[in-house]
Amino acid sequence: MCASVAFPLSEETKAVALSIPSRVMRRDTTATVLQCRPPLALAPMVGLSHSALRLLILELGGIGLFFSEMLSVTRLPIENETVSPFLCRTKAESPFFYQIFVAPGQDILPAVDRLHALNAQGIDLNLGCPAPVLRKQGAGSYMSLDFIKKTVACLRQATSLPVSAKIRLGKMLDEKALVAFCRMLEDEGVDLLTVHGRLQGEKFCRKARWDWIGKVKRAVEIPVLANGGIFTVEDARKCLDQSGADGLMIGRGAVCRPWLFADIARSLYGIDIVPEPSMREIYLRFIGLLTERFFPERRLGRLKQFTYYYAQNFRFGHHLASAVQNSNSLEEASDRAAAFFDTVDRNLSS
Ligand SMILES: Cc1cc2nc3c(=O)[nH]c(=O)nc-3n(C[C@H](O)[C@H](O)[C@H](O)COP(=O)(O)O)c2cc1C
Repeated sequence: MCASVAFPLSEETKAVALSIPSRVMRRDTTATVLQCRPPLALAPMVGLSHSALRLLILELGGIGLFFSEMLSVTRLPIENETVSPFLCRTKAESPFFYQIFVAPGQDILPAVDRLHALNAQGIDLNLGCPAPVLRKQGAGSYMSLDFIKKTVACLRQATSLPVSAKIRLGKMLDEKALVAFCRMLEDEGVDLLTVHGRLQGEKFCRKARWDWIGKVKRAVEIPVLANGGIFTVEDARKCLDQSGADGLMIGRGAVCRPWLFADIARSLYGIDIVPEPSMREIYLRFIGLLTERFFPERRLGRLKQFTYYYAQNFRFGHHLASAVQNSNSLEEASDRAAAFFDTVDRNLSS
């Protein structure tokens, strides 16, 4: 586990809290200002950004804002939150933005009503995801400019909650087009922008362009979260320095190291957080949270997805990943993981 090292932010002191005011258009409601302290967010990730991971991260500390995995506007109204692994959430998992995706011809309003009923604290629009499931429908990064504009305007009219949008840098590097796009989102009423510093077709192995996030930050008035390729405290500091962003959104780095938010909060924002438990304890706690939060048939799949990332912390992590991958029950996976951690402990003590 990473020891916490102090890397004070270089230039002007960064705000320890991120304020996200909702620029409401309707006269009948009061504007909300959401405070996120510290300005560190868990990214929306299908199969990973769920209640068990969120609670684990909350226990370890340093998190300021949660995003759900992407949710279809057509499925949202009919999903049962008491059984759905996508919607189950405790009060502690807060502040909380639900991320939605929408395709042409779909009605966004029933989904917004549902999110109000679920006590959403913000609604995030997925505008950057290039996943094939979205391509088929013309959603995410496959939405046309005109459709995006109409969708944001409609969402803005439908809610007084903060509205955010998550984007990539575009189809190709074009500063003028990127800035015009982000200003359009701002003009249509988006309150918070998350910029994933990669182009639409780019794979995660390519280095994120944090300096390009800075071009967006300088062009808009609304807060900007920088996203992409943050795995360490040093990455976080460099990303904030290069982008000038108001905060960070972290995805894979937080699955790999659920204590990363605590490390960053401590080192960059001076927030006092007690040292975390051992890696074995964190893993076993995650299994415990999966058991508490999900029905039995949903647990093992999510443990396998989590373990793919968590195993990367260990030199021989592929042994852990394949042992869990080949398990037929949560109990079997748990026993095999315990045996793996015994080996790690033995190697450390020898
Ligand atoms: C397994 C997985 C699922 C993802 N699901 C979503 C999603 O539902 N919505 C979205 O906007 N981005 C999604 N992303 C992209 C992440 O939110 C994030 O932008 C990306 O992983 C880069 O950040 P990172 O380098 O911190 O992981 C997903 C990424 C991964 C790895």
